[in-house]
Amino acid sequence: MPHFVHMSDEDMSSMLAFLHSGSPWVKPAPTPTPAQQPSFLLKALANTVMKPTPLPTRSIAPPKPAETIAYGRYLVVGRYQCFECHSKDFKTNNAEHPEQSEGYLGGGNQLVTLQGQPIYSRNITADPETGIGTWTEAQFGQAMRYGMAPSGPLQNPMPKYSRLTEEEVHALYAYLQSVPKIKNATAEDGVRVATR
Ligand code: HEC
Repeated sequence: MPHFVHMSDEDMSSMLAFLHSGSPWVKPAPTPTPAQQPSFLLKALANTVMKPTPLPTRSIAPPKPAETIAYGRYLVVGRYQCFECHSKDFKTNNAEHPEQSEGYLGGGNQLVTLQGQPIYSRNITADPETGIGTWTEAQFGQAMRYGMAPSGPLQNPMPKYSRLTEEEVHALYAYLQSVPKIKNATAEDGVRVATR
């Protein structure tokens, strides 16, 4: 469960309002949550890297969409938490200072697919060889909304952000083009490069 440290007050209250709205998607249901059975490793992590982050001391206002790059950063570190999956490892992510996460947005974090297979997050910095530096904004929008990257369909757990607005796609793209490029080929790049 990521810590949404940088999420604006407005986004936070919108989410709560939706959860309490009685919409059929979130109707109250007496479904019990089974007790978690954390492993030893998880318990150890919970007391170290996953420990609670300090509460904010003042309210958090989001940047305006017209401040494209600042707004894009907000989406990546505040609203959608792209950096959590797309930096090197959950264990070295820095929720308070996301840019200080190891390999910020350079991919290579090992996750699992729905079928339980290992999968690595990809490099989404603008490095032209191993990142998305050669993608157009339209290609990026397709990957984000429909899970269709230039190299083919993207697998779970990459979410399909089907309801992203134009403004959001534009800001995400501009921000990702602006962050320091990292050269980091993931396994998928290896396959792609080899079969090209
Ligand atoms: C739950 C983890 C997770 C989150 C959150 C996530 N991603 Fe991903 N993303 C992945 C994984 C895993 C892949 C690799 C999928 C594959 O190889 O089929 C991926 C692939 C991608 C790709 C394709 C790159 C390529 O070279 O083909 C892009 C672009 C991308 N993500 C951008 C984003 C952005 C932007 C966000 C936030 C709005 C985001 N992702 C949030 C896990 C995540």
